[in-house]
Amino acid sequence: MRKGGKRVSGAGALWAGGQRSSGAGVNPRVAAGPEGIDVPEQIERAAAVLRNRLGRRRPKIAVVLGSGLGSFTKRMRDAVSIRYRDIPGFPEPTVVGHGGELVAGAIGGNEVLAQSGRFHLYEGHDAGVAVLPVRTFAALGVNTLILTNAAGGIRRTFAAGAVMLIADHINLTFRNPLFGAVLPGEERFPDMSDPYDHSLRALAREVALQKRVALNQGVYVQVLGPSYETPAEIRMLDRLGADAVGMSTAVEVIAARARGLKCLGFSVVTNLAAGISPKRLDHAEVMETANRVTGELTTLLEGVIERL
Ligand code: HPA
Repeated sequence: MRKGGKRVSGAGALWAGGQRSSGAGVNPRVAAGPEGIDVPEQIERAAAVLRNRLGRRRPKIAVVLGSGLGSFTKRMRDAVSIRYRDIPGFPEPTVVGHGGELVAGAIGGNEVLAQSGRFHLYEGHDAGVAVLPVRTFAALGVNTLILTNAAGGIRRTFAAGAVMLIADHINLTFRNPLFGAVLPGEERFPDMSDPYDHSLRALAREVALQKRVALNQGVYVQVLGPSYETPAEIRMLDRLGADAVGMSTAVEVIAARARGLKCLGFSVVTNLAAGISPKRLDHAEVMETANRVTGELTTLLEGVIERL
């Protein structure tokens, strides 16, 4: 891991300056990890660059685009792109199908910030890096976070290409972005009883009906990856109550909820999970299905954002 404030360490979240965070009684020294990176400063440095590039734009909505789902940005008006390489602390994505930029622009009457390219745990990133964009959005004044992902379908009635509205999640990564010091503006023990906002989900269902997009609600489970699951693991996840499985989203929602952002999530079922169909799993096929469904998902996203 690079030194010199380039990357954020999740577990080693140090915050300097002696401020009192919302989690009273936390001793920052206890949470100073070996990397010793000051996360609030990291967030502020990224936010400062973005504020400068955003100019008079004040997006309140951010959209995280999953694998192969980046075409949403083409629908944004007066769009400006900000490459990750120009944002302090944002690494370059290493996965095919993931862009490496934030795009600011308008959808309907709303300013939106879209994240094209995620930092996955399986790339070796700490949870703190995976959620750096979310924390930066919050610092910019974003209050609504819409997340999308590609996922394997566990529920038997899901076909490849189905879109699932995420009703709830299971974080099975054994990582938590809030591990360590309580950052200013975050809670020590955030409530997670309505992780995917009830009213936003109702709105999404209304929009889906109106636009004639089939939308089923279900539970998403985030695993660490990068290997796909075995059939036995999928049977286990099924018994645990999961309808779709992927390698993102839950940790981002945890960080977002800790900062009070409302979340809405969609999974695109890009393949049937291992053992559900006899077919081998293949990233190229995942990308192909995501590309096929991205138009439908974009219709949903636009419809929801226009009514926010
Ligand atoms: N498993 C985990 N992650 C995924 C899958 C899957 O089957 N498909 C797309 N992302």
